[in-house]
Amino acid sequence: MSLPGVLQDSHNRVIRDLRISITDRCNFNCVYCLPETEGAGNFFKPTDTAADEPALVSGKLPYPRKPRSQILSIEEIARVAHVAASLGVNKIRITGGEPLLRRGVESLISQIAAIESIRDLSLTTNGTHFPRLAKRLKEAGLGRVTLSLDSLDRDNFRKITGRDGLAEVLKSIRLAKALGLAPVKVNAVIIRGLNDHEIVPLARFAADENVILRFIEFMPLDSRQVWRREHVVPGAEIAERIQPEFPLTPLPANNPSETSARWSLGQGGGEIGIIAPVTQPFCGNCNRLRLTADGKIRTCLFSLHEHDLKPSLRDHPGSDEALAARLRQIVPSKEPGHRISEPDFEQPARTMSLIGG
Ligand code: GTP
Ligand code: 5AD
Ligand code: SF4
Repeated sequence: MSLPGVLQDSHNRVIRDLRISITDRCNFNCVYCLPETEGAGNFFKPTDTAADEPALVSGKLPYPRKPRSQILSIEEIARVAHVAASLGVNKIRITGGEPLLRRGVESLISQIAAIESIRDLSLTTNGTHFPRLAKRLKEAGLGRVTLSLDSLDRDNFRKITGRDGLAEVLKSIRLAKALGLAPVKVNAVIIRGLNDHEIVPLARFAADENVILRFIEFMPLDSRQVWRREHVVPGAEIAERIQPEFPLTPLPANNPSETSARWSLGQGGGEIGIIAPVTQPFCGNCNRLRLTADGKIRTCLFSLHEHDLKPSLRDHPGSDEALAARLRQIVPSKEPGHRISEPDFEQPARTMSLIGG
């Protein structure tokens, strides 16, 4: 039986979490997302291309950026947030690309923070523009942040992200803590042969810095479709590698729809999370809906079909009811889950840089 007034899909999952990408631009080229650099090409080359082929650098994205007219305005995004909240969404994450490249992000945060029923407002950032904006974001009503940090080694960080930005990110993590944008979470995507030797140092970083470090399995959402199962370090292996150094004990889930399995690092304190969508899918409890910067609703990270909200927003500028009806119409088609391990799996054209994690 469907609940009146909420967004419920045809698998009885109720949508509570809206993740909004506010820009398709990014100033990083992470190998697991936008592997368009020479470093990324060299890393993936040995297994994926003939040895004498040139490094993989295209400079041409498979999914070109949208003209500004197709990107939702801050007001349009805020309106979607309001309508979603009226339909039971109580958790919103702002993502990108890199969301802090979007002008008006503080205004959006303050408009969403003013929605009474939103109990959790967070933002995912690569940290480069965070020192400049952090205080304003906090004042605007941002609750917490998640920063990406895949390596603690300057050279490896540059190899993974295409940017010499380790010091900036470390500074941002400490600033987020100082401002109380807590709990501060740190995302590390682990790729075999690239940063899996940093698993224990990253866990130690979580303990030393008192942040929640989440180890994430590499998913097939990169711009060049270089993902191979051999690159994935299974979540179980990540835990096994940490166990000799820290006595991992499981922590209870904060809510059934959580993406990560939580672990305590033991006496010294500290927590890690392991997000294992490839080897231990959590789709059955998924309560997430995504809005892209160009106004498309994605019912799954791996959706092959998107639903354009722009007509409801632009053709009926005054009618929130039309927008609500459109969301109600879309949600039942939410996929039961991703099909990464199925033989006929098809990677979506939209890369993670255009969805936002
Ligand atoms: P909080 O626990 O509320 O902070 O949110 P979260 O666990 O969703 O954290 P975050 O937004 O930082 O997401 C961490 C990573 O988990 C993302 O970058 C993705 O790699 C992965 N992830 C998040 N949501 C999904 C999802 O719906 N499906 C899959 N397969 N992976 C997801
Ligand atoms: N697989 C898993 N996680 C990814 N992210 C980006 N690309 C991938 C991928 N292919 C995550 C990173 C980043 C967030 C925005 O999305 O952890 O922090
Ligand atoms: Fe990296 Fe995020 Fe940019 Fe993708 S969107 S390249 S994960 S910083």
